[in-house]
Amino acid sequence: MRILLLTHSFNSLAQRMFVELAAHGHEVTVEFDINDAVTMEAVRLAEPDLVIAPFLKRPIPEAVWRRVVCLVVHPGPTGDRGPSALDWAIIEGEKTWGVTVLQAEAEMDAGPVWAWRTFPMRDAAKSSLYRSEVTQAAVAAVHEAVERFSAGRFVPERPAVRPQRPAVRQADRAIDWMHDTTATVLRKIRSGDGNPGVKDTLFGRTVYLYDAHAAPGLAGNPGTVVARSASAIARATTDGAVWIGHVRDPAGPHPFKLPATSVLAGNLAGVPEREVDGPEGYREIRYEEHGPVGVLHFDFYNGAMGTEACRRLQGAYRTALQRPTKVIVLMGGAEFWSNGMNLNLIEASPSPADESWRNINAIDDVSEAIIRTESHLTVAALRGNAGAGGVFLARAADRVWLHEGVVLNPHYKDMGNLYGSELWSYLLPKRAGHEAANRVVQARLPMGAREAVSLGLADEVLDGDRAEFPVRVGEEAQALADEPEWSKLVIAKRRARAADEADKPLSRYRAEELERMRLNFYGFDQSYHVARSNFVRKVVKSRTPVTIARHRDRRLQPAGRKAS
Ligand code: COA
Repeated sequence: MRILLLTHSFNSLAQRMFVELAAHGHEVTVEFDINDAVTMEAVRLAEPDLVIAPFLKRPIPEAVWRRVVCLVVHPGPTGDRGPSALDWAIIEGEKTWGVTVLQAEAEMDAGPVWAWRTFPMRDAAKSSLYRSEVTQAAVAAVHEAVERFSAGRFVPERPAVRPQRPAVRQADRAIDWMHDTTATVLRKIRSGDGNPGVKDTLFGRTVYLYDAHAAPGLAGNPGTVVARSASAIARATTDGAVWIGHVRDPAGPHPFKLPATSVLAGNLAGVPEREVDGPEGYREIRYEEHGPVGVLHFDFYNGAMGTEACRRLQGAYRTALQRPTKVIVLMGGAEFWSNGMNLNLIEASPSPADESWRNINAIDDVSEAIIRTESHLTVAALRGNAGAGGVFLARAADRVWLHEGVVLNPHYKDMGNLYGSELWSYLLPKRAGHEAANRVVQARLPMGAREAVSLGLADEVLDGDRAEFPVRVGEEAQALADEPEWSKLVIAKRRARAADEADKPLSRYRAEELERMRLNFYGFDQSYHVARSNFVRKVVKSRTPVTIARHRDRRLQPAGRKAS
């Protein structure tokens, strides 16, 4: 079928739909919901059999849903209505939640239901639930709805709808530090994380809070800041304390999310410091060992790896290499494996060019350390998505295993034509071959797990529940550590590395990539700086890129038809 994805933005759910529907043989094209006229033009050009709206912030124009069946993905169970479905579910402590695929009509979220799924709720941030449970349920429900639609016999039923719930206001999630427990504070912050955050006052400033975790072992007068640790501050609740890793000061010089300790730097004198990643500190990196397998978790907020984060990760990796293990699993974080350099930190630095340079060198050091590892077999195990340099950093490992739901964005071009580093120019042709490497770099498209394996960007897809992924990875890693295979593989890898080094030293690949990156950072062309500024400030796109708006690609239009 020809399917038009109509979406507010090409967010993780829209990307996953794009990948999934294409993998099922459908012809998929995308249009951002910018205004009614543009949407109607898209429908005219694409002539879809079906419109699917994975992420919309307003109703579909009547002229569109009267012309073609439009299926809207609502992140709530059947009958639920309103724009803040998941926010309310977290605030109200729902035990199960759901996703409904319903047909667009005049009344929002009240049309006939084509499919739905439910799932148990988890104590997690809204964005985490959205990227995991909601996405998984939405994909299953959309597949079912599409099958029903194409079979042509299914008659969708109108649900018994509840009154539409209003959007959550800041007052609905405001924290009362004098009375709220840790669990309540976490629920409130998580209901607005990643967006819009919880509005709060810290040291007399209005800021928005994100990235909250329980801080076991810490306590104090409710509302006071009782500790700091790397990027996070700990604030006391009535029965303990919470770590707050990121805040946004809308009136500050950098009105986007930044580490709490950098936004509040002038206010933290005398606040006791706890060792980062230590038992009482804010934890991003964690190492565990199961017999011959060492597992390194690195859960950086939004997968963004700044200079200091890379240095810490490199240190933890070095320490893990000292252990008498055979396999090291690089597990990344629960949400993202890595999204490359931390663009927010770069944007906020006094010299973004200098900080970009430091950051890319720090991430390259990690990549190089993984590639040069001779004592262990290494595995990058991706439970969450990866983008840009994060994808190539994963490819530095001997094996890349992906959860079946992972979406990769293995390209840098959307960030102002960045050339990219992380030794991709060595890794990609080596693993994928030159032709596939070129295709991957030029495409600017998200890629599903199976396609990534078919192209050599990854080695294996692990099916099953995402929550079970670490267990599956553990089993596979144990198998990899088994003698005598392990010894043979390690010897083969050392030989291959030595041969590659003799052919062209790694340092030369790195120097060549960095020379191009230097131009991106310091050269005449400001595209990277402009793209980064737009990205961190979330400047809304005014048109859909033609890479995904295929109906607007003149090269794909039948003769005589114009794209606009
Ligand atoms: N630095 C800082 N923040 C980042 C980031 C990065 N490299 N990559 C993603 N984020 C943040 C986003 O701003 C967003 O923040 P929010 O919580 O305030 O909404 C969040 O992570 C999720 O990203 P989003 O873009 O909404 O996710 P997505 O699934 O739609 O898209 C990517 C994923 C990877 C395609 C997209 O995030 C991206 O292009 N990131 C930049 C990658 C990059 O160019 N890195 C630098 C070169 S190595």
